[in-house]
Amino acid sequence: MTINRRDFVATVAASSVGVLLGSEATFAADSSKESSMPLKLNSTFKIEHSLKPLTFDPKKLHGLSEKLILSHWENNYGGSVKTLNSVRKKLSEALSNKDTPPFLYNGLKREHLMRTGSVVLHEVYFGNLGGNGKPSSTISKLISEGFGSFETWESEFRKMAQGLGGGSGWVILGYNYEFGILDNYWSWDHMHSPAGTIPVLVMDMYEHSYQMDFGAAALKYIDAFFQNINWEIVEARIEKARGFKWA
Ligand SMILES: [Fe+2]
Repeated sequence: MTINRRDFVATVAASSVGVLLGSEATFAADSSKESSMPLKLNSTFKIEHSLKPLTFDPKKLHGLSEKLILSHWENNYGGSVKTLNSVRKKLSEALSNKDTPPFLYNGLKREHLMRTGSVVLHEVYFGNLGGNGKPSSTISKLISEGFGSFETWESEFRKMAQGLGGGSGWVILGYNYEFGILDNYWSWDHMHSPAGTIPVLVMDMYEHSYQMDFGAAALKYIDAFFQNINWEIVEARIEKARGFKWA
């Protein structure tokens, strides 16, 4: 797999920790507590992510090739899954060594944040593909109630996507449980997720999501994306999201 800039940064950060810690990390507690008791590290540190299978037949999408979808799923999404697993292991080692400098630890936590965003947003993205692109009257009503009309929502969503063409980022329709509304959010990278918001429709605008099929013609990809939205999934997500309330 080709190593991109982010992979490189992750590798350097991880290996820097490894060099400083040595190959055998000592499992001692935080130095500020002056204790030699080992730290307990449960699922937050030890969970192993695996690739979520596609919920649709990639041969049957409208205007998006099987080759593009499988490459995106395996290399871009899959790469982040593998890196997130690796970062968790490095975090376990680094936290268990009282000599780990905080700035090196935070280098790993930055990668942890970015890879978490990539994995989650890709899973939501692939999960809302595979439909016929036709919203039901229920979803149209739900969106119209918030935005004024379905066309208003679509106009904003498309405009945001166009603005990200040629670069990187995500366009997110989400339910903001703090405000109790559906809203569209611009996201420059995997770390820019809107606060207090459950994503219900996500569009990947990184060039890797369309370059293979459309070159730099992002507008053609945006049209194709709309033709493949699974609105039934989006509607189910909205219904679940609207049920969320702070305890
Ligand atoms: Fe992607």
